[in-house]
Amino acid sequence: MFGWTCGYWHGERRNTQNTQNTENTENTENAEEAREAVAHEEGRPDDAGGPDGGTEPGAGRAARRDEAVRAAVEQGLLGPGRPLAALLDVTGIRESAAELRAAFAAVTPPGTPVLHAFAVKATPLVPVLRLLHTEGIGAEVASPGELALARAAGVPPERTVLDSPAKTPAELREALALGIAVNADNPQELARVDALLADAPARPAGLRSPRSPRAPRSSFGIRVNPQVGGGAIEALSTATATSKFGVALRDEGAREWVVRAYLDRPWLTRLHAHTGSQGIALPLMARGVAETYALAEEINRRAGRQQVDTVDIGGGLPVNFASDATDPTYARYARLLKETVPGLFDGRYGLVTEFGRSLLAKHGTVVARVEYAKSAGGRPVAVTHAGVQVATRTVYAPAAWPLRIAAYDAKGLPKEGPAVVQDVAGPACFAGDLLARGQALPLLEQGDHAAALDTGAYYFAHHYAYNSLPRPAVHGFTADGPGRVTFALVRPAQSVEEIVAESGGAHVDALIS
Ligand SMILES: Cc1ncc(COP(=O)(O)O)c(C=O)c1O
Repeated sequence: MFGWTCGYWHGERRNTQNTQNTENTENTENAEEAREAVAHEEGRPDDAGGPDGGTEPGAGRAARRDEAVRAAVEQGLLGPGRPLAALLDVTGIRESAAELRAAFAAVTPPGTPVLHAFAVKATPLVPVLRLLHTEGIGAEVASPGELALARAAGVPPERTVLDSPAKTPAELREALALGIAVNADNPQELARVDALLADAPARPAGLRSPRSPRAPRSSFGIRVNPQVGGGAIEALSTATATSKFGVALRDEGAREWVVRAYLDRPWLTRLHAHTGSQGIALPLMARGVAETYALAEEINRRAGRQQVDTVDIGGGLPVNFASDATDPTYARYARLLKETVPGLFDGRYGLVTEFGRSLLAKHGTVVARVEYAKSAGGRPVAVTHAGVQVATRTVYAPAAWPLRIAAYDAKGLPKEGPAVVQDVAGPACFAGDLLARGQALPLLEQGDHAAALDTGAYYFAHHYAYNSLPRPAVHGFTADGPGRVTFALVRPAQSVEEIVAESGGAHVDALIS
């Protein structure tokens, strides 16, 4: 069942007293920070003994991947003529969706509306959005293209949230026409929404909200930047003092402006913040949510009613790229949020989440054939077909985005042998096009396969057209045991004809005629 439909619209809203005690915040943060430190010192990942059921955390996931690589070679999805493919573990995606739903169900009273909206930017593939939709996950979109993908996947408007920082009037108009939720990024954008609503025809009497005949079908919120600080990766830190996103809450006059904006507009019923993505420590994320909650409480106090009924806490759960274990888990984050901000979970507020990377990253693998194996300056270098075009962040910012590589032989079987420090290179024509630098692996030889792990989000679905390298095919797989792997085509490989067409092939004389 979809969480969102069991709340305000079909269930009774609870009227629990506010039990939030903000003084608790620091203690719980410290306690969580201490627990995290101990867990990491002991090398104890979050999902030890978790749903995989294997002895090693993530063992089930790794076993499915091994089966899939072998089957991909056997079934001809990979081979000399097809040197690159991307694989998506359907079972793993379903498991993550279920873990997300369960984590928030465990910390909210029954009937609390919770919409988990997948951040489409993480894996903009229609079949993935469709799969998530069947798993009760909606869509957070940040461009007309992402909205179109969500619609193509059948994600309904009431399960879609529009968040981009640069929405045009046309995009806003479309969102209103469709009835999808919008989080306004700034005062100028809110003025555009005002204008669109003023122009909108009054809704027929039967559809009128008790608040106003013009009350829109869309829900609206404002995105705020709680300015709680950044994390380990500057480019993904959205809650710094000078971040481009949202209304910078601690700037002079900003908080009062936000409160007034709500008091003047009874149709503003949501409040949104996204404190950052990979590299942000959980306690800092929780602090961002706590600041947002405190603002919602202030607005409601001054409005004299529960005007803000939904807090959109964004996404950002970091992913462990160092092993197969899921660490941290949704369950841990949800518990931390409830400890830090109990009032947000007492049933008075609906919730929207916007997780991206944590839902998909660990379920994707890029597998590339080793075209040549060579040595330079004493270092072995495996030249493969996966580089900057599928792993752009890793190639340009290797320190922030290291990837694990798994070695498979020509038949797709896990490669045995002593670990040898080597580079795994891509096909692009610049020296930095390396998937991995100095990684210790069984020596990769010509015809072997190198698999870049944890690449299901923000990697192979984010093609970079350097050297006009084609987008690889993406195959979903289900592995039901040894030798029983079924593939489904998610996206075909790009053909050279398509590359020519996308590169102005139809306008060959445009510059000389
Ligand atoms: C507004 C918003 N929500 C959600 C996300 C998803 O973040 P993540 O993939 O880290 O969960 C992003 C990522 O940039 C974002 O900007």
